[in-house]
Amino acid sequence: MTARILEGKVFAQQFREDAKKKAEALKEKYGVQPGLAVIIVGENPASQVYVRNKHKSCEALGIYSEVIEMPESTTKEELLARIDALNANDKIHGILVQLPLPKQIASHESEILERIRPEKDVDGFHPVNVGRLVTGQPGLVPCTPFGCLRMLELAGIPIDGKRAVIIGRSNIVGKPMLHLLLSRNATVTICHSHTQDLPSVTREADILVAAVGRPHFVTADMVKPGATVIDVGINRIAPKKLVGDVDFEAVKEVAGAITPVPGGVGLLTVAMLMENVVRAAEMQLQA
Ligand code: GUN
Repeated sequence: MTARILEGKVFAQQFREDAKKKAEALKEKYGVQPGLAVIIVGENPASQVYVRNKHKSCEALGIYSEVIEMPESTTKEELLARIDALNANDKIHGILVQLPLPKQIASHESEILERIRPEKDVDGFHPVNVGRLVTGQPGLVPCTPFGCLRMLELAGIPIDGKRAVIIGRSNIVGKPMLHLLLSRNATVTICHSHTQDLPSVTREADILVAAVGRPHFVTADMVKPGATVIDVGINRIAPKKLVGDVDFEAVKEVAGAITPVPGGVGLLTVAMLMENVVRAAEMQLQA
């Protein structure tokens, strides 16, 4: 029997509807339109596409959106000054600095991201928001792992008491995913490049999350029959060919549910960002 395919567009549509309703409610109740500012430094073509998608998504949902384009040669001081101005701007509830940053400022990435007020940090990368997630306090959570969690919940896939295994320990996906699944009472394991006998660990998983960045890394023999497999990988193996971290064709014959690439988790990220902008606005109004 082949697996249930968890289509990103179905869940993204639901997240967008929720965000739109909440944005309308804020306008009605407080006369406030949630606003997002995205800063893009330099001309990375992939980043330009992502930023355009974020802007279009805001417009479709009634969220105010500003895109701030800064030249490749921007200094750290110039970027920090822009962030300071947005921190003080009441029209802006969410600030996102698109990554990666150009070489001359990439080494200051932490300092730059920490300059964003935690209440406006819709990426959830600020150490204050990381700390809130780890200690179970309300805060802003990174969009991709948060989207994965909400998808599991909407799909009715049980998490409480289940074994979850995450492959990859990045700050953007693996680590926040660990804390989100733990907050829903899963027993969670993180695997990484030093893990010994990886397949024996992944075969224990009721929920397997792959966020490694290696094409077709997860093979059918690594998956427990009936498991839910979430593929966070986006690997370009040819100019027009994207594949995930999971060998989809083989694994879908073993798994109980699986996300495709493209068309899976990737679609959730921007939708969750919209939700984070609205949540940020709500939190700022309550403060
Ligand atoms: N570049 C690729 N993914 C992301 C993301 O989630 N946030 C930011 N700020 N930049 C990115």
